[in-house]
Amino acid sequence: MTKWTTENLPELAGRTVVITGAGRGLGLITARELARAGARVVLGVRDVGKARTAVAELPGAFEVRPLDVADLASVRAFADSWSGDLDVLINNAGVMDIPAERTGDGLDRQTTTNYTGPFLLTNLLLDHVTDRVVHVTSQLHTQGKIDLADLDWRTRRYRGMAAYQASKLAVVLFSLELQRRLTARGSRVRSVLASPGIARTGLAAHSRSNVVNRFKFLTNAPEQGALSVLYAATEDVPGNAYVGPDGPGGLRGYPAIRRQGKAGLDEALAGRLWDRTADLVGAVGQPEFGCPQPG
Ligand SMILES: NC(=O)c1ccc[n+]([C@@H]2O[C@H](COP(=O)([O-])OP(=O)(O)OC[C@H]3O[C@@H](n4cnc5c(N)ncnc54)[C@H](OP(=O)(O)O)[C@@H]3O)[C@@H](O)[C@H]2O)c1
Repeated sequence: MTKWTTENLPELAGRTVVITGAGRGLGLITARELARAGARVVLGVRDVGKARTAVAELPGAFEVRPLDVADLASVRAFADSWSGDLDVLINNAGVMDIPAERTGDGLDRQTTTNYTGPFLLTNLLLDHVTDRVVHVTSQLHTQGKIDLADLDWRTRRYRGMAAYQASKLAVVLFSLELQRRLTARGSRVRSVLASPGIARTGLAAHSRSNVVNRFKFLTNAPEQGALSVLYAATEDVPGNAYVGPDGPGGLRGYPAIRRQGKAGLDEALAGRLWDRTADLVGAVGQPEFGCPQPG
């Protein structure tokens, strides 16, 4: 079977892509390749100066804008400042297994970075999106457990890796419910999932369980990890497709459409999670908010 690589990227001139957390790691590689293929790439990042330096010598059209996805005011400001079409939104920013910490909004930092902030960003930008939203999740979503009564780790004892797994399962369920709502309102916009497998980036820097380094022999180069994101962002895949490496366990290899874990296909849970998350970000009662419940 043909192995999909960046050589297979289509011509992307005239297309605009927003990618979060793209100043380094998989996000930067994804941004670089999309721009090389002709897209206008907008990087939403915490450190604007660092990201500008990172893309300064790269060929293509880049724009760098401030965005801290764990700060709801920053998310709202980014979305408010957007005008015009946005072909592809890639929710890439993420942290893994970080110590317990509350954001300025009083929310759990890991859950907010990986899921709640991107949920808000996506909903606020959705009316601009013309093609698709790509959610970067992880194969570790299959280990995740959603506690709707304590989504934001207030009453349970916080465990960094469990919070990561839960946040990535929440992302998978978000994609499911978003696609359901988009389809119900007759939208052609797609919600697509990308799982990079295991790639050697800075993601495991805080990880006490250090899962990436323990399984180093199984890891991908970062360029290989970014392929799933690039494929999910550009190939003609069905709504709510789960794109991940084609090797054993979805950890290594070339991008292919795979199947998300069973919990990630629970429609009832996805609907309840959406409502609970909307409560958390204080979006309830805003009629213009994102993709409303059909009918
Ligand atoms: N690497 C893997 O094996 C692997 C596997 C599965 C899934 N993933 C997912 O892939 C995505 C990218 O991870 P990576 O491997 O490239 O890790 P990375 O090298 O640590 O990069 C993470 C990126 O996210 C940004 N970020 C973190 N918090 C942010 C915030 N609050 N607002 C905006 N940006 C923020 C970081 O920006 P700063 O420079 O400001 O910190 C950085 O650019 C993540 O969603 C991760 O969960 C990675």
